[in-house]
Amino acid sequence: MKLARKKIFVTREHIIPDAIEYLKTFFDVDVWTERSAPPRNYLIEKATTSDGILTEITDIIDEELLQSTTRLKIVANRAVGMDNINIPEASRRGVLVANTPGVLHESCADFTMGLILSLARKITYGDRQIRAGAWKIFDQVPYVGTDVHERSLGIIGMGLIGSAVAKRARAFDMEVFYHSRTRKKNEEKNLGINWVETIDQILAESDYVSLHVPLTPETEYMIGLEQISKMKPTSFLINTTRGRTVDPQALYVGLSQGLIEGAAIDVTDPEPLPIDSPLLSLPNLLITPHIASASSTTVKRMGLMAAENIRGALSGTDMPSCLNFEAVRK
Ligand code: DGY
Repeated sequence: MKLARKKIFVTREHIIPDAIEYLKTFFDVDVWTERSAPPRNYLIEKATTSDGILTEITDIIDEELLQSTTRLKIVANRAVGMDNINIPEASRRGVLVANTPGVLHESCADFTMGLILSLARKITYGDRQIRAGAWKIFDQVPYVGTDVHERSLGIIGMGLIGSAVAKRARAFDMEVFYHSRTRKKNEEKNLGINWVETIDQILAESDYVSLHVPLTPETEYMIGLEQISKMKPTSFLINTTRGRTVDPQALYVGLSQGLIEGAAIDVTDPEPLPIDSPLLSLPNLLITPHIASASSTTVKRMGLMAAENIRGALSGTDMPSCLNFEAVRK
């Protein structure tokens, strides 16, 4: 008698075709074919009838969803960030939760440097102005920017992404400070960077401040008006982690009142930002649609890693990255 194959639901078809093909080798795979996220009720229904789900960060795997299913065994997020998943509840219910670290940090770091360079040297601003018909004479004055080389970069959060950003910043001849929960003495030696004891020091001393912390209750709105007020008026804030690490009202006040020179954000709160958000009226804000990890190679690698996590969870092979293995398989 042939055993029934396990069922997998993938919440987006068009992003990761290779991962879907890979999963089909082992499982029955059902996919959501639209570009937007599956509706909540549909996701809950799929959670009750699937053994594994491959999710994007906009698929909310909360207590209600987890309580609705006894079948689900693995949620594999195609992301390193896990704030869309209630991990403690998943552990209580025996559901493995997996993410994709180690394959996206270099792409995120490339992108972060791109934001720093574009913001400081007004590259995207210049592009926007030309397209709006504002370039009528040779006059560099409105486009004079700030150097990146020989300036300081303060990195908050020295995980894989923070460290890859530090490596690039050093190659641009920047002085790099960092603050992280755990001090990374090896990184300090290898990259020539300096640890500082408090976030306030990073804020007060850096020309560029870049956030590389996960979104947790501790980091939620960690940058508010108080923190922005501590930054130099000539400094820049870069956020590629999660929008909710920065209070959007405080960012608006900081940018519109000149408390800081500019900001580049790849992530927003809410996300996407409504078109009438006051932030979008600010010329000193550079904004991109949550794409720091989105190079074609990296998207593919993330998808395949998520698929491999599912295979591992359901077939007993190794899971490349599971966040609650011990809690579930105790
Ligand atoms: C991540 O990996 O957490 C990204 O934000 C999703 O692309």
